[in-house]
Amino acid sequence: MTKRKLVPALYTLFVQDLLPERFALLGVSRSSLTDTDFRSKMKKAIHEFKEIEDNDKIDEFIKQLYYTSVLLDDAASYETLKQRLEQLRAALNIRGNTIFYLSTPPSLYGTIPLHLALVGLNKQEDGWKRVIIEKPFGYDLESALILRDKLLKDWDEDQLFRIDHYLGKETVQNLMVTRFANGTFEPLWNRNYINHVEITSSESIGIENRGGYYDTSGALRDMVQNHLLHVAGITAMESPSSMEPTAIRNEILKVFQSLRPIRKEDVKNHAIRGQYTAATMNGEKLIGYREEDGVNPDSDTETYAALKFYIDNWRWGGVPFYIRTGKRLPTRVTEVVIHFKPTPHFLFAQKTAAKSCNYLIIRIQPDEGLLLKFTMKTPGSGFEVQDVNMDFHYSDLNDQRIPSAYERLIHDSMKGDATLFARTEEVIEAWKFLSPVIDCWKNDKTIPLFGYPVGTWGPEVADDLIEDKEMTWRYPCRNLSKDGIYCEL
Ligand code: BG6
Repeated sequence: MTKRKLVPALYTLFVQDLLPERFALLGVSRSSLTDTDFRSKMKKAIHEFKEIEDNDKIDEFIKQLYYTSVLLDDAASYETLKQRLEQLRAALNIRGNTIFYLSTPPSLYGTIPLHLALVGLNKQEDGWKRVIIEKPFGYDLESALILRDKLLKDWDEDQLFRIDHYLGKETVQNLMVTRFANGTFEPLWNRNYINHVEITSSESIGIENRGGYYDTSGALRDMVQNHLLHVAGITAMESPSSMEPTAIRNEILKVFQSLRPIRKEDVKNHAIRGQYTAATMNGEKLIGYREEDGVNPDSDTETYAALKFYIDNWRWGGVPFYIRTGKRLPTRVTEVVIHFKPTPHFLFAQKTAAKSCNYLIIRIQPDEGLLLKFTMKTPGSGFEVQDVNMDFHYSDLNDQRIPSAYERLIHDSMKGDATLFARTEEVIEAWKFLSPVIDCWKNDKTIPLFGYPVGTWGPEVADDLIEDKEMTWRYPCRNLSKDGIYCEL
């Protein structure tokens, strides 16, 4: 993480003059490294993972990197950290503004802030002190509440920045602009015109080398509890009173508070889980989830999750929302699809049985953009009709670079702008909402875990979640289990 994402993102900020004039970046871990060792490791990492084509400033940046060895679960070690920070501040003449970025196992999220506070590193007299943590913020509702209490004992909410890197994605933020800067979409954005909303985040990769983590997590905790519920929150929120962080986060929170609880007896019909099994994808033989390193061979952890839910408020009453995510699906795509209601009376002959509906696809990645599907006349005699697209691709703005989520989020945390970070209440509401599903999947052995061959779109029964029986999920490309069929997005 430090090598791949954080240091390259900081370098990119440095190149754009977005870091303070005087700063120090202190690497901290158990390993015993010198400043020089750390610098040379990070220099290599920047060359490999940098997000901007500018090598001229690497040496200048690297000079600001330092390293100190600290046992993060040992309170006594934190005096060493404090001294090193004080010494750097004095030598470089920098103020006390400090961000502690916890790129660590989640088991340390309670411990590190506590130990920092014990040596007074949470005190803000000489400048602000902030803690950034990555998800998972807890493992379930109970552990999330414990973590919340631990963190809030010594730190104020506005010192805590919980990274949800999806919120840092340019296209997720653009969802708000699409909705609230245009007069065309907003009047239609409600139960009167929208049939259902679909949010898909599919990945073609498996669990990479993260078997140990993933097997205790699963798709629901890894993607839905945080990233995808937030995307749903932004899709469904009311217009905030301003672009102030609190105003925006209040609206997202209200959506979470309006999520209709899924009753235990309904879990079967509202949530589908799956796990990938061995198959050939694009000509390559791929192993199943249970054969992956670090995974229990009898594991019933889901690598696919699909969910149907409702938001009980005036805007969305009765409109089903669907979320689906999975590993080893045919392609990498994240998109929100707004399915508008069909016309009340369809006059034209259609080639397909599917109802004619307009839909708006907000493509979060890749090929970021917006696409509106609508029906047009096929040229020629009669009134044959066909679906056509009107689209915008971010890549058309070719003089604009899309910053990485980490670059944006680290910069925001330095500015103290918490808009794109998850607030305690949001995290807790999201766990509350998913608790019945988590409990049933754990304890109710009658709920099936469906196998799906790698390269397919997950369990076929997930289509049954869609209420309107003439519709299915949107499939941006065909299955890849049969060799040689590539995706057309
Ligand atoms: C992470 C999950 O939070 O998000 C990963 O832990 C997942 O399992 C990743 O692969 C997806 O992020 P992105 O930005 O590639 O969609």
